Amino acid sequence: MYMTGTPISMLTAYDYHSARYLEQAGIDICLVGDSLAMVACGYASTNEIGMDEMLYHCRAVARGAKTPFLIGDMPFGSHQASLETGVTNAIRMIREGGMEAVKIEGGKDVLPLVTRLVDIGIPVMGHIGLMPQRQSALSGFRVQGKTAESALQITKDALALQEAGAFAVLIEALPSRVAESLVSDLRIPTIGIGASSACAGQVLVQTDMLGMTEKVPRFCKKYADLATAVPDALRAYHEEVKSRSFPEESTNTYDMPEEEWRRFSELRAELKQQR
Ligand code: KIV
Repeated sequence: MYMTGTPISMLTAYDYHSARYLEQAGIDICLVGDSLAMVACGYASTNEIGMDEMLYHCRAVARGAKTPFLIGDMPFGSHQASLETGVTNAIRMIREGGMEAVKIEGGKDVLPLVTRLVDIGIPVMGHIGLMPQRQSALSGFRVQGKTAESALQITKDALALQEAGAFAVLIEALPSRVAESLVSDLRIPTIGIGASSACAGQVLVQTDMLGMTEKVPRFCKKYADLATAVPDALRAYHEEVKSRSFPEESTNTYDMPEEEWRRFSELRAELKQQR
């Protein structure tokens, strides 16, 4: 797609159903992002999720999405302690999680890991710009690359990831002009989120774009309003249960043959007498 200039669509999924929806929509790449820590598990930050929980979600997604390319996010702590830990956990993503590639946040610090994984045949997507796993170091969720020095550092990181063998790089929350300069400086696809429409592809967090989360970043467009639609549906059900208008006898219940019902009534009467 990159070679032919066809824009690449990428979206996150966290469970079987979100993966099925994504596949039905024809999305090209499915990311089991560590954003699931916050949007699917209710943790305060992405750093609270570990490998085992990520793998549980990866397996569910892999069962739901067969056609899209599957990428699993390497969570915080899964590779920082040593190269060996990183290699072991990336292999777990593939073997236990059913993923086809991994995404790793970081610049020059992750190059040895990227090189090693690519050497052993695990495709790696880099992730630079705003890196949520480093939100404390970056003073929160802020647009990155707003100064010349920081834009240059991001460019150096992107080029280094490309040289290390990353097949693509996700660029998050960057000024459009910086994102566009990356698109032209790199010969691998850039996947943007809060970056620029010039990127080779775009990614969004599924729960955000479906309007399931209360607060969404400025760069996210809401394509649905499930935060309203779902509670409305649940409330309607609750009210219908209370008013006994659900289930409807004609549509939501089952019947049995008349003859069987008569026999059951007799048997039941006998049972009553014995008690
Ligand atoms: O974890 C995630 O969902 C991400 C987003 C930037 C797509 O990495």
